[in-house]
Amino acid sequence: MARKELPTTFSLGVCYYPEQWPRDRWEIYATRMRELGLSFVRIGEFAWSRIEPAPEQWNWQWLDEAIGTLEAQELAVILGTPTAAPPPWLTVQHPEILPVDPDGRTRAAGSRKHYDHCSPVYREHARRIAQSMTERYGQHDAVIGWQIDNKWGESDSTRSYGPASREAFRSWLANRYGSLSPLNEAWGGAFWGQEYTDWSEIVPPNLTMNEPNPSHVLDFYRFCSDAIAEFQAIQVEEIRQHSPDRFITHNYMGHFGEFDLYRNAEAIDLVSWDSYPTGQIDKDLLPQLDVDYWARTGHPDLTSLNHDLMRGLKPNTPMLVMEQQAGQINWSDYNCLPADGAVGLWTVQAWAHGCAGVSYFRWRASLTGQEIMHSGLLRHDESWDRGGVEVANLELGGAELEPVQASVVLLHDYESLWISDAQPHAHGWSYWKQFTLFYSVLRRLGIDVDIRHADADLSGYRVIVAPALQIVDADRAERLTGAALGVSFVAGPRTGFRQPTGQAQPDGQPGPLRALLGYSLLNVDALRPEMTIQVDDEEVMIWAESYDPIDSDVMFTYDDGPLAGQAAVVRKDRAFSIGAFSPILIGRVLAHVLTEAGIPVEPLDEGLRVSRRGDRTIWMNFNPDDRRLPDGRQMGPVSFLID
Ligand code: GAL
Repeated sequence: MARKELPTTFSLGVCYYPEQWPRDRWEIYATRMRELGLSFVRIGEFAWSRIEPAPEQWNWQWLDEAIGTLEAQELAVILGTPTAAPPPWLTVQHPEILPVDPDGRTRAAGSRKHYDHCSPVYREHARRIAQSMTERYGQHDAVIGWQIDNKWGESDSTRSYGPASREAFRSWLANRYGSLSPLNEAWGGAFWGQEYTDWSEIVPPNLTMNEPNPSHVLDFYRFCSDAIAEFQAIQVEEIRQHSPDRFITHNYMGHFGEFDLYRNAEAIDLVSWDSYPTGQIDKDLLPQLDVDYWARTGHPDLTSLNHDLMRGLKPNTPMLVMEQQAGQINWSDYNCLPADGAVGLWTVQAWAHGCAGVSYFRWRASLTGQEIMHSGLLRHDESWDRGGVEVANLELGGAELEPVQASVVLLHDYESLWISDAQPHAHGWSYWKQFTLFYSVLRRLGIDVDIRHADADLSGYRVIVAPALQIVDADRAERLTGAALGVSFVAGPRTGFRQPTGQAQPDGQPGPLRALLGYSLLNVDALRPEMTIQVDDEEVMIWAESYDPIDSDVMFTYDDGPLAGQAAVVRKDRAFSIGAFSPILIGRVLAHVLTEAGIPVEPLDEGLRVSRRGDRTIWMNFNPDDRRLPDGRQMGPVSFLID
C-alpha cells in the first residue's frame, strides 16, 4: 500500500498490539511481518491507558518506538484513536460517562466501549485524545491513515438510556419537530394517551410496562444513530486539522444494523469492516441453515453480503477488511477450528467482492486478557499458526483492484430495518433474515450483486430488488418508480407497509408504490415455527401475505391455509411482488426475472459460488468436499480458482 494514499493494489496487513508485548520482541515481529509479505499494520485502538496513564501525563515514547520499528521494515501504519477503551482514571473521575442499559443499569468499566456517545464530558475527552495523537503523528511518514474508535455499536453500546442520552434525545426531537404538536402527530399520541405537553415529559423508550410506541422507538433509534455520527465527527475534525492528507476509516461490523452506516460513512474516506465468518452462522440469518455443515468456513453468503454492503457505502472508493479472521475465534457460541484453506479462501473472497486489502486479526495469540483463547497468525509460543502458514502461501498481494460490475442491485435501508424489527410480528422473522434470503438466492444463481441505499442513484442496473423496504413515502416512491422505468423491479414482503413516522399507510400496503406494483394487500399470515403453507407446492414459512391484483397479473397463488386461492406473487409489467417467505419460490421468481432481463443465470451447488472482478472470474468452493463446476472442472474442498 502506498503511503498516504488509498490502496491501489491488493494489500495484506495485520492487527497488532505492541503494548501487549515485551519491547525486545518488536523488531523481530516487524521483520517477520515483512517476511510474511504484509505491507500495513493497524495499531493503537485500545492503548489510551498506556498513552495517557494519568490525566495530561503523556507517554509517547513507546508508541514512537513501536511505529519506528514498523517503519524500519517499511510497514505502513493505520493508527487507531483509542476512544473504544476509556482509561480507568477517567471513569473514576467521571462515572457519568458510563452508558445505561435498557434495564436501567449503569454499565461498568473493566472491558471496553463503556461510554455514552452523548456524554459531553466524554466527547471532550475524545476530542482531547484525538487532538493529542494527531498533533504528534498526523504528519508521521509511516502513518497512512486513521481508524476512529473500534466497531461502533460493539458490546451493545449503540443505545444508552441514561441522563446524557435522555437530554440529548429531547434536543434532537426539538430540532426535528420544532414543537410538540407535529411530534404528537408523528407518534400517534392519541393511542394509549401519549400526548406530550412538555419536552421534559419525553424519555427514552425503555422500561415501559407494555411495549413502547414504535414511532417513539424509531425516533430514538434515529437519534442514537445520529449520536454516533456526531461523536465520530469530533474526531474527524481533529484528524482533518492535524493530519489532513491521511485517510480516515472505521471498522464496521457485519450484519449490524443499529446505526445508519450510509450516514456514518459520509464523514470518512475509506470503509472497512471486520470479517469473522465462523462467528456469523449462529445468528439465525439464513432459514434452515445447517450450522454444523458451515462451522469451519462460515456460510459464503453471510460473508459476501457484508463485503457487498460495505462496498456500496462509498462506491468507487477502496475498502478494506480491517480484521480478517485468521484462525479460531473466542466469542461465538462454539469456536470451531476453521477448515484447512479457509483463511486463504476468505482472503480471495474479500478481493473478489471488491476489497482493496485485508488485515488479519491478530498478530500473536494473546497471553493475557479477554483474548487468551483467540488465535493469531502466531501461536502463543510464537510459532506460525495454521492461518499464518496459509497467508505465507497465498499469492494475492499486489492483485489489481478492478471494479466489481453488478447489474443487479439490492436496496437497503436502516430505518426500515429499525421499524421492522421493532414489530416483527412473527417470531423468527427479521429484516436481516429476509434481506439475506433474497441476497443468498441471487448468489446461488451465480449473480454478482450490489447493495445500495434505497435512495441511491440506481441508473445502470437492470434488475432492482427491494427485499424488505418497509418504509416508503411519496418521494421515495417517485424515485423508485423513475428508477424502475425500463428495468425489472422486485419487491419482497411488507414493501411500503409504513410511512417514515412508522405509521401504517392510510391506503394500505404498498402505499405510494401502488401505481408501480399494481396490487393492494389483503391479509398477512404469521406462521408458527412448525407451520408451513404451500404455493405451487413450495414451502412457505414464517410470513405470508396475499394481494388483490387490482392492476397486475397473478403469477402464483396460495394452495392452502387461510390465504388459499389468493395471490402470493403478482407482476405488473416488469414490476414483481413476492409476498411469501419461501426460499425456493423466491428463487423461481428471481430466475424468471433475471432471464427475462437477459441476465444469464447459473444455478450453483450450495457452497459453490462465483464472483467477477474486472475481467477475472473467481470460483469458490466452501464445501468440505470436492465439487464440479458447471464447465466440468473439479474443485477441491475449501478452495478457489481464478480464471
Ligand atoms: C472484534 C474486535 C477486536 C477483537 C476481535 C476478536 O470485534 O474489534 O478488537 O476483539 O473482535 O475476534
